[in-house]
Amino acid sequence: MAEKFGTLRDFDSSQGEYLNLIYEIMESRKRGDKPIAYIHTYGCQQNVADGERIKGMLSQAGFEFEDKPDNADFILYNTCAVREHAEDRVFGNVGALKNLKAKYPRTLIALCGCMMEQKHIAERMYKSFPYVGLVFGTHALHLFPELLYKALTGSKRVYLRDNDDNMVHEGIPLRRDGSFKGWLPIMYGCNNFCTYCIVPYVRGRERSREKDIIISEAEQMIRSGYKDITLLGQNVNSYGKNLKDGVSFAELIKTIDDIDGDYWLRFMTSHPKDCTKELIDTIAQSKHISKHLHLPFQSGSDRILKAMNRHYDRKKYLEIINYAKEKIPDVSLTSDVIVGFPGETYEDFKETLSLIREVEYTSLFTFIYSPRVGTPAAAMDDPIPASEKSKWFKELLGVQEEIASKRCASMVGTVQKVLIEGEKGKGNILNARTSGNIIVEAEGSPELVGTFQNVEVTKAGNWILKGKIV
Ligand code: SAH
Ligand code: SF4
Ligand code: F3S
Repeated sequence: MAEKFGTLRDFDSSQGEYLNLIYEIMESRKRGDKPIAYIHTYGCQQNVADGERIKGMLSQAGFEFEDKPDNADFILYNTCAVREHAEDRVFGNVGALKNLKAKYPRTLIALCGCMMEQKHIAERMYKSFPYVGLVFGTHALHLFPELLYKALTGSKRVYLRDNDDNMVHEGIPLRRDGSFKGWLPIMYGCNNFCTYCIVPYVRGRERSREKDIIISEAEQMIRSGYKDITLLGQNVNSYGKNLKDGVSFAELIKTIDDIDGDYWLRFMTSHPKDCTKELIDTIAQSKHISKHLHLPFQSGSDRILKAMNRHYDRKKYLEIINYAKEKIPDVSLTSDVIVGFPGETYEDFKETLSLIREVEYTSLFTFIYSPRVGTPAAAMDDPIPASEKSKWFKELLGVQEEIASKRCASMVGTVQKVLIEGEKGKGNILNARTSGNIIVEAEGSPELVGTFQNVEVTKAGNWILKGKIV
């Protein structure tokens, strides 16, 4: 049977009703003047975007938010399953809530997100932490009000996962974390099944949001002053494939770029197998798209790329990179890379190093391979000991540091447009970021946060620049 895809436009009105009921329940259940929620999100921006929807729903039910769990009536960990380290932190943090729950038994503790879509993990958590009252997976986000209501009123714990309906649910209330930097999901799920990766198992099949909905969300963000908007998807280049009118990512981003305003537009993540010259041309000709391409290569060795099921080789990857360098002067390139994939030898690893030297990335997200239960790579032979992989990892960091510091040094004396993102401690030092995603520190007053400024670069560190606002 063919898989069905579609969009459900209206957040089911019964879910809105549950939010009203929760509002009433919390009037008598709250510890302080207002019901307080503590929501902690791990993992990628997709999870952050989900967290913003959870906060939107809770906000509608009268909740306010604090960044510590101590006073909270509702505590939620929105989890990530991508590497073991992320999972360990969740186990540790939930374990640490035992005393708080003993002191305030009416505090509801909940778990959601990608870890909860893995049956063995969700069940282990459910069993290890009897004081967790609500567990739900990524596919149950649109049912959160109902689940929360049941957990608050019933005598049993509530547990819902694995109900992927392949649908895109629109109209869920939203409360963004930032006021000038924001995320805009354009699609959900992933069909690529890279052999190391858990994401397709916990996020379901790839499905796109309708173009008109995305455009109006972008317009609304720009109108309300967002300066840095990132379009999100696990593989943005395959945007639109399940939509009736078959719109491409390049077309979508061109349409958004045409909206008037003073803003930067970014996107992630772009998969090298589907990254087209058309997309690079679009970036080159655009008014608002950052001259920045995040293009994860994962490994520089063709043998390992094949074992990873990445569907491109080193040659094809470099072809796109070189095209981008040619068409977009000063393009800033960033990437993800995995060290120690099963069967990787030091020879393979050296290919990764040579690729990094050849491309000269601005920065890299570097990971040591972490086996994920249920993925093909987890069953592959992995003879290299962890201590050896750590050595390779350190070597890679050293090489990248050298490249990044050279790049930073070459920017001294230039003037860069930056977005002021916040204050750095005391002393009127501001943190800013270039369109190529390089961090810049400059002196200035806090009122400048959230504005674009021009900064003359006066000094370069290994990863960051220092400068003065001109
Ligand atoms: N969809 C994006 C990335 C999503 S996960 C893409 O394809 O590029 C973010 C990064 O985590 C990946 O790019 C990869 O480098 C890393 N990663 C994913 N699974 C991993 C694993 N099992 N071990 C180590 N790193 C992993
Ligand atoms: Fe994971 Fe590959 Fe999908 Fe990225 S493209 S989310 S690495 S399976
Ligand atoms: Fe983690 Fe889920 Fe994102 S596994 S990286 S939070 S899609």
